[in-house]
Amino acid sequence: MIYFLAGVAAIAGLLFGYDEGVIAVASPSLQSSFPMSAFEDGFTTAAVPLGAMLGAILAGKLTERLGRRLVLMLAAALFALGALAASIVGSIAMLMLARLVLGLAIGVAAVVAPLFIAEAAPLRIRGALVSTYQLAITAGIVLSYLTGLIFGGPDTWRVMFALGAVPGIAFFIGLLFLPESPRWLVLKNRDADATASLRRLRGTGADVAGEVEAIRANVFAEQRTAAHAPGVLAPWVRPALIIGTVLYFLQQLSGINAVIYYAPTIFQHAGLDGQSTQVMATVGVGVVNFAVTILAMTLIDRWGRRPLLIAGFAGTAATLLLIAVAVVAQDVFPSWIVVLALFGYIASFAISLGPLPHLMMSEVFPLSVRGAGMSLSSVSNWGFNFVVVFLFPLMLATIGLAGAFTLFAVVCLGGIVFTIALVPETRGVSLEEIEGHLRAGEPLNTLRAAKGAPIPVAAGAP
Ligand code: BGC
Repeated sequence: MIYFLAGVAAIAGLLFGYDEGVIAVASPSLQSSFPMSAFEDGFTTAAVPLGAMLGAILAGKLTERLGRRLVLMLAAALFALGALAASIVGSIAMLMLARLVLGLAIGVAAVVAPLFIAEAAPLRIRGALVSTYQLAITAGIVLSYLTGLIFGGPDTWRVMFALGAVPGIAFFIGLLFLPESPRWLVLKNRDADATASLRRLRGTGADVAGEVEAIRANVFAEQRTAAHAPGVLAPWVRPALIIGTVLYFLQQLSGINAVIYYAPTIFQHAGLDGQSTQVMATVGVGVVNFAVTILAMTLIDRWGRRPLLIAGFAGTAATLLLIAVAVVAQDVFPSWIVVLALFGYIASFAISLGPLPHLMMSEVFPLSVRGAGMSLSSVSNWGFNFVVVFLFPLMLATIGLAGAFTLFAVVCLGGIVFTIALVPETRGVSLEEIEGHLRAGEPLNTLRAAKGAPIPVAAGAP
């Protein structure tokens, strides 16, 4: 049952990726139905992250009150309705509204789905199950790009948007068969329901009394700490907040979603002729992103966070600068150089800047403020996602592709400095040790795993 639950909840990741990526391949046919200014183009595309930012703000309160499953069902219904609405609209304004609604569903689901998995999963496989969600995002991006290969011609954007309703409906139906999170049920003093839920999750006949006891003890301990501990803005929590929010700032300002949302346009600006060639290259971007994310999942606990981040920032900065130069000197550099460099950029992102901010956000916050800290970090993620996606068409129209990519490269270089100066190495360090370090007021970047300590499974949710 737990694998079924993780599979269903991961559909939310698939939808997240699908709705991010679909605009890239739907854009040409959309432009022929509704010719758009750079401002309208930017806003239509950026309506999803804008809605998601609002969703992330609402998600915490909603799920505390209504539970994980019901909130996800509401999000699934919004997903399906938003996708269908986006496919039948007759004006740009209506399309923006439909994408805003889709974004709202994504923002809520992006906080609640991983939380649902993490709370229902047995400790020993929690990290792996949470990472599956992350992988589902990249799978959704590939799927959306593939629809661009399969469907072509005028008005195909309607089919592409409508297809997003299929996983939305599957998500809703799957949720009907799932039990509520046992942890939330205990929080609501419904221990009998929590026992029934755990029995279904762990299989018939499983003795779950001990686990319910442990959850109950944990909830008590958390409530006690929460009553005494200062909030997420307290000075001793600040280093964690800086890691959570700045890593997302860097992730987004590395320009990733300029690429994910506008890949065919980028290839066009780089001189790659023919719409189908551009879509093929875009599918390549999606596949590299997906494949390298699998590799990253195996390296994160072996190589550690800091080396991967430094390598990732160096790789993204170098490839962005190479693309900028190749675009300015198009008569010297053939366009396949840009395609290769963009694949290199995506690989550098997926090995580090993609998964690590999500993982580290779940590691650095003290238990009592983890929910609030993750919510604030998510707002930083979606807020900067919105800024980049909204401004990118305007940047193309003003400073051009080379100018935009040079700016992103400068941010990535700043990322190296930030990592060296402030990012802790949390590999092999328990969450309690991280919290102890914060409480003692010691700089986070002096954290080190104790020699010979076992490497723990990544805990918590992105
Ligand atoms: C980011 C998304 C991005 C995706 C690309 C995620 O880690 O948060 O904004 O679109 O990676 O794979």
